[in-house]
Amino acid sequence: MTQSRINALTASGEKIAMLTCYDASFATLMEQADVDVLLVGDSLGMVLQGSNDTLDVSMQDMEYHTRCVANGADHTPIIADMPYGSDQDPLHALPNAHRLMAAGAHMVKLEGAKFDVVECLVANGIPVCGHLGFTPQSVHELGGYKVQGRDEASASQMLKDALALQQAGASMLVLEMVPAELAKTLTEALSIPTIGIGAGPHCDGQVLVVQDMLGIYPGKTPRFARNFLDGADSVQSALRHYVQAVKDGSFPTATHSF
Ligand code: KIV
Ligand code: NA
Repeated sequence: MTQSRINALTASGEKIAMLTCYDASFATLMEQADVDVLLVGDSLGMVLQGSNDTLDVSMQDMEYHTRCVANGADHTPIIADMPYGSDQDPLHALPNAHRLMAAGAHMVKLEGAKFDVVECLVANGIPVCGHLGFTPQSVHELGGYKVQGRDEASASQMLKDALALQQAGASMLVLEMVPAELAKTLTEALSIPTIGIGAGPHCDGQVLVVQDMLGIYPGKTPRFARNFLDGADSVQSALRHYVQAVKDGSFPTATHSF
């Protein structure tokens, strides 16, 4: 169901509107607002648990929140993040991905260029979404929240990694904090849909952390986010405005891009 819905959107050229979601109430509201895909992101380590990064999120945390979201959503595809340390090699990733699927996910997402892991999960019937560009689980290695792929070498490496993820069987790719022009190149080179966050307007879809798009995260709001509650009279209408803005291309603009 997930795959056919996503394929239909991509084929029609309609933009995919994705949001992070961590509980049943929001899952129901997002479904009512026609959000296309719900992402149980490990960003929950920051926005729900109050950590400075996503490294402390456990498999149990991800299972719990995936179950909560699955209980609130009836027919909307759910993607669950593989948390830090759960997907280092196929041997560990497969049972962990099984746990997320059993909790109600339809697809799992993993960061970086772990081609053998993607291949193994897909061979075992688990759809996979990749995640390139700024990958928060590597925040220390990357030296902070920085746009990735700015120079020629890292841009061509990202293109190679994206194509290899597709080759390994990934069915979707999140691009985080990538220059808009590079995201455009990747989107044109790939047949699978790209979902951008701080990656410009040319991706096949967009995702935001729900706290950022409602302006309710007490920490720093990233420049690529827009507060959709601003000027809306309810959370429900803010969610609808977001979906509308992604569909009609009015979000993101150049101010939200690099
Ligand atoms: O964890 C998360 O919320 C994510 C999105 C920002 C893509 O991975
Ligand atoms: Na994540």
